[in-house]
Amino acid sequence: MRTGPLAIFKDDLLKGHTAVVTGGGSGICRGIARAFALLGADVCITSRKQAVLDEAAAAISAETGRAILAVAADVRDPDAVIKVVTAARERFGAVDTLVNGAAGNFLAPAAALSPNGFKTVVDIDLVGSFHAAKAAFEPLRLSGNGLLINVTATLHYHGTPLQLHASAAKAGVDAMTRNLAVEWGQFGIRVNSIAPGPIGDTEGMRRLAPGNAAELAKKGIPLGRFGTIDEIAAAAVYLRSPAAAYITGTVLVVDGGQCVSLPMFGV
Ligand code: HXC
Ligand code: NAP
Repeated sequence: MRTGPLAIFKDDLLKGHTAVVTGGGSGICRGIARAFALLGADVCITSRKQAVLDEAAAAISAETGRAILAVAADVRDPDAVIKVVTAARERFGAVDTLVNGAAGNFLAPAAALSPNGFKTVVDIDLVGSFHAAKAAFEPLRLSGNGLLINVTATLHYHGTPLQLHASAAKAGVDAMTRNLAVEWGQFGIRVNSIAPGPIGDTEGMRRLAPGNAAELAKKGIPLGRFGTIDEIAAAAVYLRSPAAAYITGTVLVVDGGQCVSLPMFGV
């Protein structure tokens, strides 16, 4: 049943569409996969843990009646990602949308961050997104209406403490959004980022704002609350809809105004 931010969309808005969603077994990207399926799309979800994917696929399929393919892969392995896209094409006949959501993060002071810690996050978020974009290029081109959504963040708009690795990675992904929009527009492929602010009930917030930090963080958000998974899913559906047909190369920030808010004297 579609409630809240997803209720506004037409029932069969995405009928006949197919999508591949990396990181689609959990959190925000599971929400995007579910929203696409609720609106009629067939979806392939991928991440490293097959059991997590199987549970998510069964739940989304039971709720929506759509085909949900679950194929495990580590986005750091380009061949594994090609296999995911190939499996989706074989099962669904096409891939119209790729959502790059796979990411890793933790809090760490830059001075204590190991070279491998920095590299790991850049490899998953940035290099992994490149691998998936490259693997999906041909089906997105053949779609004639291809869309790539990169899920980034707002961390890199300012200096964010303990987040050098993730900030650098997401800045790179936003750069990739602009570059691919320019290179792939001629093939009918639109490329956009969605930059969520803090989203409740996610692994990201459990890691970055545990316990009391969550309540404190809300004070810095003009709308006074964390966002919801469905609010990010609705942004993804909007970008996929005909209403966004002329939108490419942009970053859609969905953060309750957090990134434009400058705390004054601790207030
Ligand atoms: C410092 C750490 C660390 C920590 C890992 N490392 N955790 N360093 N503090 N808490 C270092 C390790 O010591 C190691 O370096 C290197 O990172 C690789 O660690 P592995 O455990 O071998 O990596 P791997 O198994 O590949 O796991 C990747 C991971 C992990 C990112 C470290 O946390 C993971 O799989 N996360 C996936 C889920 C996730 O993070 N979801 C949240 C996304 S939220 P050395 O030098 O010891 O070898 C998000 C929010 C963005 O992205 C913005 C929000 C506002
Ligand atoms: P999440 O549930 O942990 O999502 C991250 C997903 O990536 C998981 O499904 C994880 O599954 C997968 N993943 C991690 N490493 C991978 C790898 N090497 N290969 C393939 N898949 C991998 O966290 P989330 O909070 O919902 O975050 C989702 C996205 O939103 C991320 O891009 C994140 O940066 C972004 N974001 C989140 C917030 C927030 O408030 N939560 C804010 C801004 C941006 P496995 O571990 O099973 O592989």
